[in-house]
Amino acid sequence: MNVDKRGETKKIPVVDLSDPSDELVAHAVVKASEEWGILQVVNHGIPADLMRRLQEVGRQFFELPATEKESVTRPVDSQDIEGYFPKDPKHLKAWDDHLIHNIWPPASINYRYWPNNPSDYSDDGFRDVTEEYTRNVTKLTEKIVGLGGDKTQYVMRINCYPPSDLVIGAPAHTDLCALALLVSNEVPGLQVFKDNHWFDVEYINSAVIVLIGDQIMRMSNGRYKNVLHRSIMDKEKTRMSWPVLVEPKHGLVVGPLPELTGDENPPKFESLTFEDYVYRKIKKLLRD
Ligand code: SIN
Ligand code: FE2
Repeated sequence: MNVDKRGETKKIPVVDLSDPSDELVAHAVVKASEEWGILQVVNHGIPADLMRRLQEVGRQFFELPATEKESVTRPVDSQDIEGYFPKDPKHLKAWDDHLIHNIWPPASINYRYWPNNPSDYSDDGFRDVTEEYTRNVTKLTEKIVGLGGDKTQYVMRINCYPPSDLVIGAPAHTDLCALALLVSNEVPGLQVFKDNHWFDVEYINSAVIVLIGDQIMRMSNGRYKNVLHRSIMDKEKTRMSWPVLVEPKHGLVVGPLPELTGDENPPKFESLTFEDYVYRKIKKLLRD
């Protein structure tokens, strides 16, 4: 595949959430969302030690023997989209192993897709750490975008890209969800497309990367960008990433907000439930 391994470097906006001026913070978030559709937030309130533990239990899970990971594999006859998905040699476009499970609200949680190992009998079990991270990440989402409790649901995805010469780990895409809050291990690899170039997202220890997805783009009638992104694999090191996907509550109809549209700015997108949107987009991707 003819792809430059390293993109150009231009700084993805970094926003310090501890800035005492709420107005300046809000302005910086809006500007980054309009221009890039991505930003990194620092001093965001999620303890660095919790982020370290999240990465540790995730790494331990992916290092388990394949037979143990199979305990959270989705049964073949299931319609669920949760579970452990080992990389599929038939699906040559995506090269990662991944684990997907709902984390919020509690009623959406299906613990059969939450690994028991590393065990939850200690403080550093997968379940305890994930629950603590969930409390923090939902709070952070409300702080950044004011997307509140009863309108959203949260899904954790953990990607594990083994060392490889293959270059592309996740092919270019925009996220289906409203937004994604992503942390990664210290191996860089996320790239975003802007002004006809791929840019590297610099690795900043303990930062959270915020990616605007399709639903916020649609709600804002195109004002905020759904960032096109991909990930690059490292030749020597395993790269891991933990995007938390914030989705509109299923069944909720999402479209351009009336207060953001009008005679001058007619709605550019159809209002749809998240499920209908996903169904149509995937059908289209399969057709193209
Ligand atoms: C993704 O967007 O699905 C993965 C991004 C990453 O691994 O950094
Ligand atoms: Fe993504």
